[in-house]
Amino acid sequence: MSQQRPKALWGGRFTESTDAFVQAFTASVEFDRRMAREDIQGSIAHATMLAEQGILTETETHIIIDGLRQIEGEIEAGEFSWSITQEDVHMNVESRLIDLIGDTGKKLHTGRSRNDQVATDIRLWLRNTVDRALSELTRLQSGLVAIAEREAETIMPGFTHLQAAQPVTFGHHILAWNEMLERDAGRLIDCRRRMNQCPLGAAALAGTSYPINRERTAELLGFDKPTENSLDSVSDRDFGIEFLSVASIIMMHLSRFSEELINWNSTAWKFVDLPDRFCTGSSIMPQKKNPDVPELVRGKSGRMFGHLIGLLTLMKGQPLAYNKDNQEDKEPLYDAADTLLGSLRAFADMMPSLVVNKKVLKETAICGYSTATDLADYLVRKGLPFREAHEVVGQVVALGVQTKRELYEIDLSELQAFSGLIGADVFSILTVEGSVSARDHLGGTAPVQVKAAAARAKAKLQKR
Ligand code: ARG
Repeated sequence: MSQQRPKALWGGRFTESTDAFVQAFTASVEFDRRMAREDIQGSIAHATMLAEQGILTETETHIIIDGLRQIEGEIEAGEFSWSITQEDVHMNVESRLIDLIGDTGKKLHTGRSRNDQVATDIRLWLRNTVDRALSELTRLQSGLVAIAEREAETIMPGFTHLQAAQPVTFGHHILAWNEMLERDAGRLIDCRRRMNQCPLGAAALAGTSYPINRERTAELLGFDKPTENSLDSVSDRDFGIEFLSVASIIMMHLSRFSEELINWNSTAWKFVDLPDRFCTGSSIMPQKKNPDVPELVRGKSGRMFGHLIGLLTLMKGQPLAYNKDNQEDKEPLYDAADTLLGSLRAFADMMPSLVVNKKVLKETAICGYSTATDLADYLVRKGLPFREAHEVVGQVVALGVQTKRELYEIDLSELQAFSGLIGADVFSILTVEGSVSARDHLGGTAPVQVKAAAARAKAKLQKR
């Protein structure tokens, strides 16, 4: 980054040059150059509209667009020389344009301000991030639905309070995650729709005295329409806050999911094996295979929540309209995008290779009196009110605990001592297969329901 300090583009009214520290302190180019492509895209749309409205000549606009494309090429090739004297990405590009094409370049900024320019750039950049996040999310969800189809009959323990509660199918458990991600996708789509309005034309804050066509720039940039109010357009960053809220919810979900994978993969649980290529070893303990990817995703959720609180706090004290405070929106948004896209990608890549240890899952599902509710339901079907059935089964469980036996290991005669309603047919409902198959309704864990739910989930993903 060049440090020489020629006059800034706005230097006209100043009698001394900016203090060197202040220049570095106020500059944003070191980070906002990340939006250079969007900045050029916005400038091309603006210049195109200016010519169509007769504000610039066709020739001037051609020269400007050619210059901008050349700058885009220089940036992509890594040949562009960024300078903090030009403060931010917008002025770096504009001053390079003036170097390249001379006085015509000075006409590009007609009828706009960096305030509507930056508000446009961030929206374009964030819209692209949302699209990328949606496609990674879709990839992850497709992987989960495939696991659900494959493991619709695989039995595992279902937990409440992390205590064995009732057996469920693995496919059902995985589809629970898919539902959360499905809502996340809906939130991303909503957030994109609200952000997809074009602030160009708001200029510094009040609009511009040139006969601009705001519908046209909005259309050229793929926005649904121009924003309604110039003051609001240049000042609020609620679309960024909304994105961070959605991203925080996604990271919260991925963090919970990570926590399960870490438990499932642990030496104590052994429910699943994470693929080696998503784990790392220990520099001292040769036997270790650590679930670093889920651990990192769980950890990264923290910085995402921090960015959300950061941007809310950044916004809350600002009077209308633009204030320099808003320059602080970019680093959190950039980091949020990297964190979100990286975490989604890691999950989408990792999940299809998850190895499910069916034997351990089933053995664990059988333990812990997990079919006690089925026994109570059995007694209810034989005519006992549920509360009484609950009491009877509680006593049977107590016997099992004392004599170290599971329900299906207790003899029929012993069971009948608790209730004369119990017959030999009880043993089929005490199995984990019987338990899951009995929950055969919409949203239940029975394999047939899981297969149908997976098919519905797949159809939704195909329509997205
Ligand atoms: N770098 C600034 C930002 O990120 C661009 C807008 C500056 N506008 C101004 N009037 N100083 O917000």
